[in-house]
Amino acid sequence: MSPDAGTTAPLGVAMIGYAFMGKAHSNAWRNVASYFDVPAFEQKVLVGRDAAAVAEAAAKYGWAETATDWRTVLDRDDIHIIDVCAPGWMHAEIAIAALDAGKHVLLEKPLANTMAEAEAMTAAAAHARSKGVQSMVGFNYRRVPALALAKELIAAGRIGTVRHVRAAYLQDWLADDQAPMSWRLKKETAGSGALGDIASHAIDQVLFLLDDRVTEVSGRVHTFVNRRPGTGGQAGGLEDVTVDDAAWATLSLASGAIASVEASRVATGRKNSLQLEVFGDKGALRFDLENLNELQFLDATAPAREQGFRRILVSEPEHPYVDAWWPQGHIIGWEHTFTHEVRDFLLAVSSGTAPSPSFEDGLEVQRILDAVEQSAASNSTLVQLSPAATPAAGTAGTTEGA
Ligand SMILES: NC(=O)c1ccc[n+]([C@@H]2O[C@H](COP(=O)([O-])OP(=O)(O)OC[C@H]3O[C@@H](n4cnc5c(N)ncnc54)[C@H](O)[C@@H]3O)[C@@H](O)[C@H]2O)c1
Repeated sequence: MSPDAGTTAPLGVAMIGYAFMGKAHSNAWRNVASYFDVPAFEQKVLVGRDAAAVAEAAAKYGWAETATDWRTVLDRDDIHIIDVCAPGWMHAEIAIAALDAGKHVLLEKPLANTMAEAEAMTAAAAHARSKGVQSMVGFNYRRVPALALAKELIAAGRIGTVRHVRAAYLQDWLADDQAPMSWRLKKETAGSGALGDIASHAIDQVLFLLDDRVTEVSGRVHTFVNRRPGTGGQAGGLEDVTVDDAAWATLSLASGAIASVEASRVATGRKNSLQLEVFGDKGALRFDLENLNELQFLDATAPAREQGFRRILVSEPEHPYVDAWWPQGHIIGWEHTFTHEVRDFLLAVSSGTAPSPSFEDGLEVQRILDAVEQSAASNSTLVQLSPAATPAAGTAGTTEGA
């Protein structure tokens, strides 16, 4: 039972980081209670490093107070939830300290920068869970209604036995070789490049949609632009890029299916395109995040002359999460996935139920990312993932209450 399950006092939330994800998560915290029935909570503290900048962000995003040292919020009895929107290199230290302090943790993806960190975090999460303290990784695309629907259709056997999956996450913000250096381009701060940043989402989707586990990995990574303008701009000279610009992998799944995964931040013209295609022996599904209200479904049991992909506009009240929003056809956007994530996390905390994706699910993704790098370092040879160390396939997650 959660220490906070069933309590009527509002859950106090502190969020660490207030840039890209901090803005997206703040929007979710501000809106969630307007659309979903969730337990009472308060946006208490926003944490950053620069006092003036964090105060400005807190006023804009609806946080009551600010702090410049994340450790201070862990000491407070009125803080129950820590939302970590800081870069990957900080995930392990913050998450482990927060869980040890008895705080529920919502943590941005990927779980960690290294396997050692991911394993320590998962152990801390398991220990905390035994005391009713919950944790969840922010693979928000599990909360796209069309992808939650895709999972339901696959589980119901509507496309039969899945044989082949294509998962590609393509962006182009690094196509310009003058795009500047940032923490995302350094191994010590980001762990890896397109691999950890966006292939992690694609891999999580393969596990989520198929409710399966990966047994074997072959991978390749490549950096096309090795030096970029430093933080001082052109005058400051060029700095080394120490992560990949793009990554490729094939994954064998325990069920016998095979998935190809591609991720690129130099895919000119693709802005934020997470493309998924799932081929079964009785049908197929197609999805593209750049068109996130739509799911394409082909029923291969229909007479051949009537077959073809049909477009499901995922905006009916019967679809996952949708009845909280607008009348049919009044579509939703990328930011709604974070609102769904916060809703599911709050319900899990208040009911004392472990949310998904769990840190174990995050660790599973991390093992696959690690195997891609190992394989890439040895001419794409196959790397086996031992089933013994793999969490049960069932932990790959569900859409609670969706
Ligand atoms: N789910 C998604 O779709 C998605 C998208 C982008 C990023 N992310 C993930 O979100 C996390 C953050 O990425 P981002 O894009 O928001 O990065 P960002 O650079 O935009 O923001 C990072 C924030 O962390 C803060 N920060 C850094 N050091 C800090 C410290 N010591 N104390 C307090 N705050 C500190 C920075 O001030 C900044 O506000 C990463 O794990 C990233 O992989 C997820």
